[in-house]
Amino acid sequence: MIIEPKTRGFICITSHPEGCEKSVLNQIDYIKSKGINETAKKVLVIGASTGFGLASRIASAFGSNSSTIGVFFEKPPSEGRTASSGWYNTAAFEKEAHKEGLYAKSINGDAFSNEIKEKTLKLIKEDLGQIDLVVYSLASPVRTHPTTGVKHKSTLKPIGSSYTNKTVDFHTGEVKTISIEPCIEEEIENTVAVMGGEDWEMWINALKKENLLSSNFKTVAYSYIGPKLTEAVYRKGTIGKAKDHLEKMAFSISDSLKDINGKAYVSVNKALVTQSSSAIPVIPLYISLLYKVMKENGLQEGCIEQIHRLYTERLFLEQVPTDSEGRIRIDDWEMRADIQEKVSELWEQASTSTLSSIGDLEGYKTEFFNLFGFNYHEIDYNRESNEMVNIPSLQ
Ligand code: NAI
Ligand code: NA
Repeated sequence: MIIEPKTRGFICITSHPEGCEKSVLNQIDYIKSKGINETAKKVLVIGASTGFGLASRIASAFGSNSSTIGVFFEKPPSEGRTASSGWYNTAAFEKEAHKEGLYAKSINGDAFSNEIKEKTLKLIKEDLGQIDLVVYSLASPVRTHPTTGVKHKSTLKPIGSSYTNKTVDFHTGEVKTISIEPCIEEEIENTVAVMGGEDWEMWINALKKENLLSSNFKTVAYSYIGPKLTEAVYRKGTIGKAKDHLEKMAFSISDSLKDINGKAYVSVNKALVTQSSSAIPVIPLYISLLYKVMKENGLQEGCIEQIHRLYTERLFLEQVPTDSEGRIRIDDWEMRADIQEKVSELWEQASTSTLSSIGDLEGYKTEFFNLFGFNYHEIDYNRESNEMVNIPSLQ
């Protein structure tokens, strides 16, 4: 069939198999051109099909020939309906990995569930024995708690008082003011239950209990801080409480890994266009201004450039560089004072009429559609595509 982008609200409900393959190949090329050679040879990536998790899986496999198991939650294709992009990304990833003789198997299902954890543990026992690195990169709006059965929903709201600021509808370019009412207490708890560190800890405990972690084992989860501008809705909002919880969890996980000389890290990453960040109010306007400034300064990075820097300049060094709170920082270029000053200046000027010249709205849109395999000039979108693509080693 001929596949076109169809958007509904903040997301795109179709995706293009060849376009998704293109985005994976671009990331593989980048990693191969740079090389990595880290020591984690057996890697489990939870949230492996898009965004930072996919980039981590690609960096491990194609940067240092590591064996990877990827866990994710994606929609398979059906006759006349495309799969979700993470499905096509993974199909392309596995195809390339297998061509090079690399071990790569994938599990599609709810990573928060006991069932998917058990399935993953079984696969590790059968195929890999022990894991050297777990990358925890889930982004989800909901979590059904495996012991209570309660379905928690996360929210993106300020705490204490309402928050009013500018935002952009990046599809139309319209800049307008929005007000977000503060959350109620329960919404904080629910957001922490979904995006906090409990599930990360459950994964590591389950793996450790079965002796599936190698000595000098490492695990990393991804966090975000961001500027004053977005603080009320992000870092000091409901999602920020979840990130506080995730960051604290790194310390308790590290404690539980002492006997195998293991360590848990949180890496604070840069703001990027992904399916998750597009849904957060205010963030798309911030990102479109940030991209403009970072590109002008030659500092722009995507997921793969970020993870390459994480692997080569942070996570696998003898002494892992961290901030005063023990966090790895690869948001250092985003947070540079000169970059942030410029972004705040532009923020004041941002309106529907100015944004296309002072911000990188086109860059935002291109990257957004690229997430679903669209807007690649190398792809002929008038050609028929086969939507029924298989993931070769789906378990
Ligand atoms: P993403 O939406 O691109 O990726 C999310 C991944 O989680 C996908 O592989 C998806 O299949 C998987 N997933 C979601 N629910 C699942 C479930 N129930 N079971 C199994 N897999 C599930 O998100 P992105 O942006 O890569 O985010 C990953 C992490 O990075 C998050 O913790 C996010 O907060 C963090 N981060 C994101 C930044 C950004 O600007 N996008 C900046 C800094 C950190
Ligand atoms: Na991810």
